[in-house]
Amino acid sequence: MPNKEYILGSSEREIERLAYQNEVWSDATTDLWKSAGISYGKKVVDLGCGPGFCTFPLSRLVGSEGQIFAIDSSDKFANLLQEKIRTNTANNISFHQNDASKLDLENDSADFVFARWLFCFLENPSKTIAEVKRILKPNGKLIILDYFNYLAVNVFPRNDAISEIFKAYQKTVTTHKGNYNIGEELPSLIIENGLEIESLTPICRIARPNTRIWKWVELFNQVSVPSLVEQGIWNEQQKADFETEWAKAKNNPSAFFFAPPMIGIIARK
Ligand SMILES: C[S@@+](CC[C@H](N)C(=O)[O-])C[C@H]1O[C@@H](n2cnc3c(N)ncnc32)[C@H](O)[C@@H]1O
Repeated sequence: MPNKEYILGSSEREIERLAYQNEVWSDATTDLWKSAGISYGKKVVDLGCGPGFCTFPLSRLVGSEGQIFAIDSSDKFANLLQEKIRTNTANNISFHQNDASKLDLENDSADFVFARWLFCFLENPSKTIAEVKRILKPNGKLIILDYFNYLAVNVFPRNDAISEIFKAYQKTVTTHKGNYNIGEELPSLIIENGLEIESLTPICRIARPNTRIWKWVELFNQVSVPSLVEQGIWNEQQKADFETEWAKAKNNPSAFFFAPPMIGIIARK
């Protein structure tokens, strides 16, 4: 894995997965932007922006009088996004290759900081919230969409070979010092760092086979199952058992997927 990559890497498959993931969860995302009040002329940080699937919609939302600071630590996403910014001649986006805990932005410079599926991968989320507070203008807002209560995730009717995969995902992220239950801790960390909570929104979905969210988890599995085997967390037999049971679930009209619950947070400086 190249330097500064996050746990899921930056392969073509992962980029495609992130693009599809953005489509699937864009309604929940834009609802949060709307509730927080992101609008024309604002300065917005897209923190942990990845390949920029939110960066460009945000750029259109704030218009030519607004500004987007897109930030990510990954070398590959940095190159990709800088190229996209050039070819889209998006004049209101600047990319900064920073770690989320140390941003090269000035104090009191942003109206909004938006972070989607970033905090679950951070070793020290509190340090990042402190840094966000530093760069937000007074009354500026932090908007987070992230995972919460991952233990609830499963395919029903329950099946051991399938349940095991969600346990394995949690284990892998924990080994990399991330946390798919980060939503439980964020409100306390936000208060401890001197921001006020404006709203907490639950985002819960159930998906039946062959729907958008079902396809989303399938893409996640396609990227992650081979990686579980490569890392020695799963053996070939576990992979084969999982694939057999998943194929059965797909054709079971009573099957449903309880998607990873997420939390939407809006906090104010
Ligand atoms: C799941 S992706 C989400 C990308 C984007 N926010 C989205 O919603 O499509 C997580 C992103 O966080 C970035 N990331 C992880 N740890 C980081 C850190 N310590 N500092 C900056 N970016 C980080 C990764 O490089 C990756 O682009």
